[in-house]
Amino acid sequence: MAEPINVTVTGAAGQIGYALLFRIASGQLLGADKKVKLRLLEIPAATRAAEGTALELEDGAFPALAGVDVFDNPKQAFEGTNVALLVGARPRTKGMERGDLLEANGGIFKPQGEAINAGAASDIKVLVVGNPANTNALIAQQHAPDVPADRFTAMTRLDHNRALAQLAGKLGVSVEALKKVTIWGNHSATQYPDVSHATVNGSSVRDAINDQAWLADEFIPRVAKRGAEIIEVRGASSAASAASAAIDHVYTWVNGTAEGDWTSAAVVSDGSYGVPEGLISSFPVTAKDGRFEIVQGLEIDEFSRTRIDASVAELVEEREAVRKLGLI
Ligand code: NAI
Repeated sequence: MAEPINVTVTGAAGQIGYALLFRIASGQLLGADKKVKLRLLEIPAATRAAEGTALELEDGAFPALAGVDVFDNPKQAFEGTNVALLVGARPRTKGMERGDLLEANGGIFKPQGEAINAGAASDIKVLVVGNPANTNALIAQQHAPDVPADRFTAMTRLDHNRALAQLAGKLGVSVEALKKVTIWGNHSATQYPDVSHATVNGSSVRDAINDQAWLADEFIPRVAKRGAEIIEVRGASSAASAASAAIDHVYTWVNGTAEGDWTSAAVVSDGSYGVPEGLISSFPVTAKDGRFEIVQGLEIDEFSRTRIDASVAELVEEREAVRKLGLI
């Protein structure tokens, strides 16, 4: 029997954690044939709640779950880990400036990057969910110099899934009919959900919709601001959909994308499409043999160029801000 795969989840007692852990335990993160050992990281004030969730996980009697441990120390939580889901983050509270938010998160993601560098397994894969996800991922990556940079990613799969759902609704098709939708840039309101290369049952989505005003004035803002819409309607931020997207991101990373399709993930830029090297920005990506590759050679029209540049400019500003704070 193969050794279980160690999966560390931070923010395990939070609302995304609660939705995520049971999906992982049921075998949906990596495939039901693989056993998983969960390592839950929380702040000391929340370890008791995480232990309560561990009791419930035990009660699930999941065949794929090889055990659950709870930690309040990042060094221990990342020891030997193969997959790290960094969900716990410091939320923006009333009156908090962006600099304060970045600084507070630097205090979380710097030590976590160091702990990953010190003790994670050599095949470590990291997904940052906690916001500001792209820049938190950059901070962690910069403090893990011995880990290949491409093992650090941030989540834009929820935005990707939201885009698929909106397009499927508009076109009256199932999401499976859609291919090659892209989210570019930052996981923020500046993100650019792009259908320029997307197809529906093999034909151009743009032609099928034939309504540029709908795409520019309804689709793009709806996807980019969906998080706020969920808060408004549900009275709490997206949790189960975020957990589901985290499962999708890692499953795709490990098991690959389908032939003729791609997905979206924030990965370290190699300079493709004019995105400055080293930024963790969302791109169209394929996955094969446990690696994401940025899709190359796509034509970028003027509309797309402006939108991509605006979101990337925000990422550059965030990088400058964390540099100034001495966080990277
Ligand atoms: P939550 O507030 O319910 O839970 C966060 C948990 O993280 C808390 O239990 C807290 O104790 C824990 N935590 C804080 N600092 C920690 C540390 N240093 N180590 C370990 N745990 C720590 O928040 P929720 O709803 O679960 O969201 C988590 C994050 O995910 C937020 O930053 C949220 O903005 C982000 N998010 C990202 C999405 C994306 O698409 N990338 C979508 C939805 C949410």
